[in-house]
Amino acid sequence: SGKLNAAAQAAGKLYFGSATDNSELSDTAYVNILKDSQQFGQITPANSMKWDATEPSRGTFTFTQGDQIANFAKQNGQLLRGHNCVWYNQLPSWVSNGGFNSSTLSSIVSNHCGTVVGHYKGQAYAWDVINEAFNDDGTWRSDVFYNTLGTGFVATALQAARTADPNAKLYINDYNIEQSGAKATAVMNLVKTLKSSNVPVDGVGLQSHFIVGQIPSSFQSNIAAFAALGVEVAITELDVRMTLPSSSANLQQQQRDYQTVVSACNAVKGCIGITVWDYTDKYSWVPNTFSGQGAACPWDQVSTFQLATQARRPGYPQRITLRTLK
Ligand code: G3I
Repeated sequence: SGKLNAAAQAAGKLYFGSATDNSELSDTAYVNILKDSQQFGQITPANSMKWDATEPSRGTFTFTQGDQIANFAKQNGQLLRGHNCVWYNQLPSWVSNGGFNSSTLSSIVSNHCGTVVGHYKGQAYAWDVINEAFNDDGTWRSDVFYNTLGTGFVATALQAARTADPNAKLYINDYNIEQSGAKATAVMNLVKTLKSSNVPVDGVGLQSHFIVGQIPSSFQSNIAAFAALGVEVAITELDVRMTLPSSSANLQQQQRDYQTVVSACNAVKGCIGITVWDYTDKYSWVPNTFSGQGAACPWDQVSTFQLATQARRPGYPQRITLRTLK
C-alpha cells in the first residue's frame, strides 16, 4: 500500500512515526492521515509534554494537553514517545531563574521527571529524558541544570524516570550527533559513563534535522557506533529542509535523502524506528526558525487543501513512497 509504518515494520523496524501538536488535531484532513497506524505507528507530542506545559509553576502539574496526544495515540493503536523531561528550552523561568541551590534543584528535577513520566506510566514506549545537553563542540551546555548540578542532573533525571515507569525506554536525545565528531563522541562517552555507573539508559535519539543534499556520510556508521554501546537508536525528529521556493532538483534530492536515512536505519539492527518532526510542511517548525527555508516534511503544505498545487507534485500527497523504505 506504500504506507510508511507498514513498510517500516516489514523491514523489521518497530515503527515509523510523526510528531504532532494539539492545535493540529482539529484539522480533519490532517488527522485523517495522522491517525492511520499503517502510515504512522508512533506519535510524539511536539510541545505538550515539555516542562513549560507540564509544570508551569512549581509543584503544579497540568496534563490536559499531553493527555490529548497520549489518548490520540492510544485510540489509534500508535506507540507514544514522551518528549521531554529535562531541556534548557521551553523551561519556565521559575526553574531557570529560581536561584535554587543544588539540593533543591536536584529534587525539583527528580520530582518533575518522576511525576511526568509516572503520569504516563504504561503509555509511553520511550521518553526523551535528557534533551540537547551538549554544545556542538562536545562540551556541556551551560544551562541551569549543568551550572547548578554539574553532570549529576542526568543520573537524577534518568533514575527518577526509571522508578516512575520501569518499562519506558529512557533516551538521551540531541541534534548534530548524526555524524561522527566531538558532539557524538560526547554523547557516546556519557552513555558509557552512565552504563558503567549502573544509571539506567536505554537509547540515544538522533534528532536528524537535515539539510537537503547533506545527509552526513558517516550517518549509518555512526548509528552503528551508538548501537554498539548496547543502547537502541531512534531517529527522533527527522526533516530535510531546503531553500524556498523548492526546486524540482531539490525535491528529487530530498527524496533520495529520505531514502538514505531510511536505508541507514534499516541497515542497523539497533535502529528501531524513525519519527518525522511532523509529517506535513503545513505544521513544520522549520520556516519559523530558518527564514526562507522549508519544504522539509514528507507531505507538502498543500496536500490537504490547496488543490491547485497538487498537479505540480507527481506522487501527491507523499514525497516519500514505499520505494523509499525498501
Ligand atoms: O503556545 C504559544 C502561543 O500561546 C503563542 O501565541 C505563540 C506565539 O508565537 O507561541 C506559542 O508557543 C510556540 C510553541 O512552539 C507552541 O506552538 C512557541 O512560540 C514556539 O517557539 C514553539 O516552537 C517549538 C520549538 O520546539 C521550541 O523550541 C516547536 O513547535 C517544536 O516543534 C520544537 O521542537 C523542537 C524539539 O522539541 C527539540 N528539538 C528541536 C525541535 C525543533 O525546534
